[in-house]
Amino acid sequence: MVRVAAAASASDMQQLAQSEGCFSCHAIDHKKVGPAYSAIAQRYANNPHAAAILQDAILNGHQGTWGVIPMPAYAPDGYLNPHQALDLAKWILSLKPTP
Ligand code: HEC
Repeated sequence: MVRVAAAASASDMQQLAQSEGCFSCHAIDHKKVGPAYSAIAQRYANNPHAAAILQDAILNGHQGTWGVIPMPAYAPDGYLNPHQALDLAKWILSLKPTP
């Protein structure tokens, strides 16, 4: 597979999120077990470290920003590598709701 330097395409990311089971807890535009991806994008819109913060949350899990339910870690079992987690983070950050 050839990897272009440009960001992975949105449909690739949607597919990856689908196959990793992200959508069992997340939706693009409404809260499920976890926050809506559009809400995450909005919350971190002005944070210059957003991509790294979300990458870390995806790899190592996270708790306490949105409530008491934890986000599971995706690194330990080798589900996602750091590159994929960063691509997913950037994709989520691109899902800002249109005003
Ligand atoms: C078992 C349910 C569950 C699954 C599966 C899940 N999440 Fe989450 N996710 C959550 C919850 C709950 C939170 C809120 C955590 C918190 O309050 O800090 C969250 C938070 C997040 C955040 C925001 C972290 C932050 O620092 O604000 C991102 C980004 C995210 N999830 C991405 C993903 C991606 C990508 C996947 C699939 C690879 C995924 N999630 C799978 C439940 C889940």
